[in-house]
Amino acid sequence: MSDQAPAFPITEKAYAKLNISLDVTARRADGYHDMLMIMQTVSLCDELTITPESDGNVFAASGLPYVPGDKRNLAVRAALKYLELVGDEGRGMKIALRKRIPVGAGMAGGSADAAAVLRALNRAYGEPLTAEELCAAGQTVGSDVAFCLRGGTALASGRGEILTPLAALPDCRFVICKPDFSISTPELFKKLDESRTSCHPDTDGLLAALGRGDLDGICRRMYNVFEDVPDRRMRTIRAAKGALLDCGALGALMTGTGSAVFGVFRDAERAERARAELAKEYRFCCTAVAVGAQL
Ligand code: C5P
Repeated sequence: MSDQAPAFPITEKAYAKLNISLDVTARRADGYHDMLMIMQTVSLCDELTITPESDGNVFAASGLPYVPGDKRNLAVRAALKYLELVGDEGRGMKIALRKRIPVGAGMAGGSADAAAVLRALNRAYGEPLTAEELCAAGQTVGSDVAFCLRGGTALASGRGEILTPLAALPDCRFVICKPDFSISTPELFKKLDESRTSCHPDTDGLLAALGRGDLDGICRRMYNVFEDVPDRRMRTIRAAKGALLDCGALGALMTGTGSAVFGVFRDAERAERARAELAKEYRFCCTAVAVGAQL
């Protein structure tokens, strides 16, 4: 049992991620897949405020009907896992979520919330768990939580939890837009298994371009194997990428299993012009910048 009462209220930002590349390298016996991904934390974020609840309940409140408040919410699962690890089960808390990251977008919104809960609770309890212990706890909640805990620019392998920090991306702006549909992650993995996609990102070339700070070289090599899955929704994804490129993006890609798509722009003015243009067609459309490591 932790002898330190947590210092409430706790506030924390939960930053979204974008995939600069996404490769699926193997199907595993445990039902998951081995991945090789270059991930980047971006400034689009949810905001969390954690306050005590005297009834011993742990729940989330976002005001959105499609975001569950119970254990289906990764933030709640992360809080319960943390309380178990520090021996403080039975402590109630409300996790107020101000959601800005769209749900079902491939930007790890749920995982970012879970990671923010783990970071914030560990701070409030006086840092009893190491970064490694937090990552191990996060991994039990979801494959993207370990990356979201640490953040910045990283190469992720294994289920997504084996992280190698990388040099920051060269200065740039992202324009992110999301078509109105969402794509189920397990469904897309299944379609990938059933299809014969044979193209893979040039991850070594991407790492070399990152090392050189070569934004053009990075953008030329951005690649997500899920875009090759036979699924008619990918037509809409390709159209969104085309619209971003028409607006001057150096490169454009679907992030994760979608459905959000982003373009990389060299400067803020061009990015803002693109955002204004794309906002005519996409209800969700924003600009963002890269954010460094959180832990
Ligand atoms: O770990 P998480 O709950 O985020 O994964 C959601 C689903 O995505 C898994 O149930 C699995 O179908 C798929 N997945 C996978 N391989 C990974 C990550 C996720 O097959 N490395």
